[in-house]
Order: sequence, then structure tokens, then C-alpha cells
Amino acid sequence: MIIKVLGSAAGGGFPQWNCNCDNCVAVRAQTPGFKPRTQSSLAVSRDGENWALLNASPDLREQLNATPELHANPKHGPRHSPIKAVVLTNGDVDHIAGLINLREAQPYSIYGTDRVLSVIADNSIFQILKPDIVPRITLPLGETVPMQGAGVDLGMTVEAFAVPGKVALYLENEAAGPDFGTQEGDTIGIKVTDTETGQAFFYIPGCAKIDEPLAARLKGASVVFFDGTLFTEDEMLQQGLMPKTGSRMGHINMSGEQGSIAAFSKLGVGRLIYVHINNSNPALNANSDARKTIEGAGWEVGFDGMEVRL
Ligand code: MLT
Ligand code: MN
Ligand code: ZN
Repeated sequence: MIIKVLGSAAGGGFPQWNCNCDNCVAVRAQTPGFKPRTQSSLAVSRDGENWALLNASPDLREQLNATPELHANPKHGPRHSPIKAVVLTNGDVDHIAGLINLREAQPYSIYGTDRVLSVIADNSIFQILKPDIVPRITLPLGETVPMQGAGVDLGMTVEAFAVPGKVALYLENEAAGPDFGTQEGDTIGIKVTDTETGQAFFYIPGCAKIDEPLAARLKGASVVFFDGTLFTEDEMLQQGLMPKTGSRMGHINMSGEQGSIAAFSKLGVGRLIYVHINNSNPALNANSDARKTIEGAGWEVGFDGMEVRL
């Protein structure tokens, strides 16, 4: 499989349009050690010709233009796209808004849980993707589903599994209590498997906690792309950006006893790659102590254009 990181930043991107945190100021000034990043999305292909997107970010048009493998190929006629499927891991703006870029009556399939597909069904703007051209395919939790679209079998399967997290920000129901009305299927991780070779990787861009079932599932995995939103639980408060902790946003942090570095230290994963990195995260600075800490623990920082072969 060929896996491409189209966008390695969390919602808002890097820099974020309205942000003057130290990182955003530094990346705008083209300071060495800082790379701009677009919002959260991966692409995967088994044959290099036909691709699935894993999430569709608001920066998708820019990401496609930067990725020749995803361009329309004239040998296939006047209209064409190598994108045959889009898999959604939640209903957040940074993961679904890019679907709007994939209009113009081009056939492909959208995969998601019933909960996430209902978000699309309930938002009338997505009717621009007519279901007879762009079918929606439900991902039942814990089942292996073949990936296909526009009559093409992608030669890969996807398995969705629930991870600790919450409902999309704009669907939070304060009156529903501390979980804001979150239901099963609002946030998933996925496992993508090459049907021929059996090689597999995990993609979990939003995760509040690594609990026992998740740890058991990830143990010994070859490659995991994982939620790298924050370095510390309260960094957005400390930087005066927003009065929200990581747990309030449904994102685990990297550092500390409850962090992802500690949780993965016992799991024997081949390659650990952070994606969905928020602009407040000090690890975005290649010369920071935070970066040394995560690289010292064996993690890689995903970047736009990164390619992983498996
Ligand atoms: C998140 O990852 O927490 C969301 O993308 C936030 C948002 O939708 O802005
Ligand atoms: Mn997000
Ligand atoms: Zn910022």
C-alpha cells in the first residue's frame, strides 16, 4: 500500500487564519524549523492508480493540487478522478467539509458510521453529492468491509472501531450532560488492510484516551497514524488561545502519564506517526524540547506530502 499524508494539521491548519500563537507567528515568518500544514487527511492506494481518501478536509483542493497521483488522468477521458472512496472518521468540519470539493457529478463512495452518515444526510449542502452517483456505505463497528467505488475494487478493506471521543463540536448538546450527547460511532479509528498481502495500518486522528480495548487492538501493529493534537492537556489555556483542555475537546495529549507517548511505550508498534497536530503544539517546532521528547520516544511527526509504503 502507498499511504500519503495530505494534511497533518488539526482543525484550523497551520498557521490558523485567526491565530497569533508563537507557532503561527513563526510559521508565517518562515522561521527555520516550522513547516506550514494543511488540515487532517490521508490518502491510500494499493495499485497507485485508484485511491481512497481518509477524511476530506477543507483544504482538499489545495491538497489535490499538491499531489499528482490524485490528479485527473486524461487517458481516462474528459472527466476522471483516481479517488474512488472517502472514509470518514467523524463529522468534524476538518474531516467532512472537503466533500464539497468532490462534487461535479464524479462517482465515488463515502464510507462512515451511521452516526456520521446521518450528519451528512441532515446537512442539505451535501445533497450536492447525489446518492445515486456518490453512494453512502455504512461501516458497522468491528466488521471488515471491502473498499470500492465507481465500479473499482480498491483491493483493500476497512474496519471501523469505536475510540473514546465525542460528538462533533457543532453538534455538542450541553444539556445532555458531560458527554454532550455523544453516541457510539461518533468517533472511530480505522484499520486498513491490503487484501492481497495482509499488511495493515491504523488511522486514529481523534482519540480522547487509550483504554484497554484500544491498547489491545493496537499492540504489535506495523504502522499507526495517531492523534497528535496537543503536547500538554492545558496548552491552549496556557497560551491564552481558548479556555478548553484536551479532554474537553476529545483529544489525548502526547506528554505525561496519561499521554499517548506513555500509552504506546508498551505496545510494540513498528512506526508511530503523529497527525492532526494543533497549531498550539510545541512539537511543531523542529528545534523544540517537545520534538526531542517525542522523537526520543520513537515517534515521527507526520508532515504534508509524507509517504509511507507498506
Ligand atoms: C477537533 O478535532 O476537535 C475538531 O476538528 C474541532 C473543530 O471542529 O474545530
Ligand atoms: Mn479535528
Ligand atoms: Zn496558532
